[in-house]
Amino acid sequence: MNLELIAYLKQQSQFTPVPVIEEKLKLERDQVFTDVEAAIEQGYSIEFHPYLGVKLIDIPDKFLKHEIRDDLNTKNVGRKLKIFDQVTSTNETAWELIESEQELRDGTVVIAESQTRGRGRMGREWHSTPGAGLWLSVVLKCNVPPDKVTFLTAGAALAIANMLQQFIHLPAEIKWPNDVMIRGRKVCGILVEARSNQPNVFVLGIGMNVNQVRADFPESLRDTATSLRLERPGARGMNRVRVLRPLLFYLDRIYTQIRKKKWDRLAEAWSEFVHMGGKHVSLQQGGQELRGKVVRVHPADGITLKLESGEEKTCSAESVANVRDLPSDSVDAEENE
Ligand code: BTN
Repeated sequence: MNLELIAYLKQQSQFTPVPVIEEKLKLERDQVFTDVEAAIEQGYSIEFHPYLGVKLIDIPDKFLKHEIRDDLNTKNVGRKLKIFDQVTSTNETAWELIESEQELRDGTVVIAESQTRGRGRMGREWHSTPGAGLWLSVVLKCNVPPDKVTFLTAGAALAIANMLQQFIHLPAEIKWPNDVMIRGRKVCGILVEARSNQPNVFVLGIGMNVNQVRADFPESLRDTATSLRLERPGARGMNRVRVLRPLLFYLDRIYTQIRKKKWDRLAEAWSEFVHMGGKHVSLQQGGQELRGKVVRVHPADGITLKLESGEEKTCSAESVANVRDLPSDSVDAEENE
């Protein structure tokens, strides 16, 4: 493919006459047509007008290295890309690469169009509609103290929520411990894994629903899951590469802060997206249901609940599943009895 032609067309906001392209890129007329056709074959949306010439409308909704890298101003995240059509799980593929490639670069991103066995938290399955979302894992090689490892999940949630809010203008929130929500529905899940034979290496898995419509989700998720498309005005779909690039950029910025151990600053920024204080929730811990009012949430310390008994209890992110909102009067009513 003629990347020079693509780069040139990207700089033009209007149609470019074919003779101008011939001259600028020193191409024969036939070659211009052949190259435009080859680009269209690759998924580029290009309009051709007999008098006005050629105009690039959009890049392919496909993970092409040169498009992901285009203008990607990151230090670590995404400097190396491993792109697959189908994998069992991008987290699993990332671990295979870590085991097999001695010098796998910090920040390497493994991304796939589809996953056959996407992994979720607590051994659950992650539903990854082929071609409709961003299913990726970032290899992080850094020395994080054990009591700060939860900052990797929190930092990723912060980066994602920031990106969704600032770049896509959607009202993102973080639901502790690691879900990114829009209007009460989950749009993105995060799974950080470590292995004892690989000290100071982490795999940060991110699953972001981008272009699913309701019917793409299994029945059991239809009321609780959402996608960027479903939340955008007019339910407009998005080019996934255009979402991926800012995502990698925001992740890189936060990762730099993690490497510099800016824990307090990260916790403060994170807590601005966590609107759980004072809410009544139920959660599962060790097979037991706890219900209470949220007193405090912190990326490293976990969630502190005032239980129905009046006792305060703090639970760590790893020990907890199924955090659910309860109607706001459900605990107070009993507290006041
Ligand atoms: C959760 O909310 O339960 C976490 C879901 C994480 C899913 C992503 S998709 C890409 C990466 N590969 C996996 O197998 N899982 C993560």
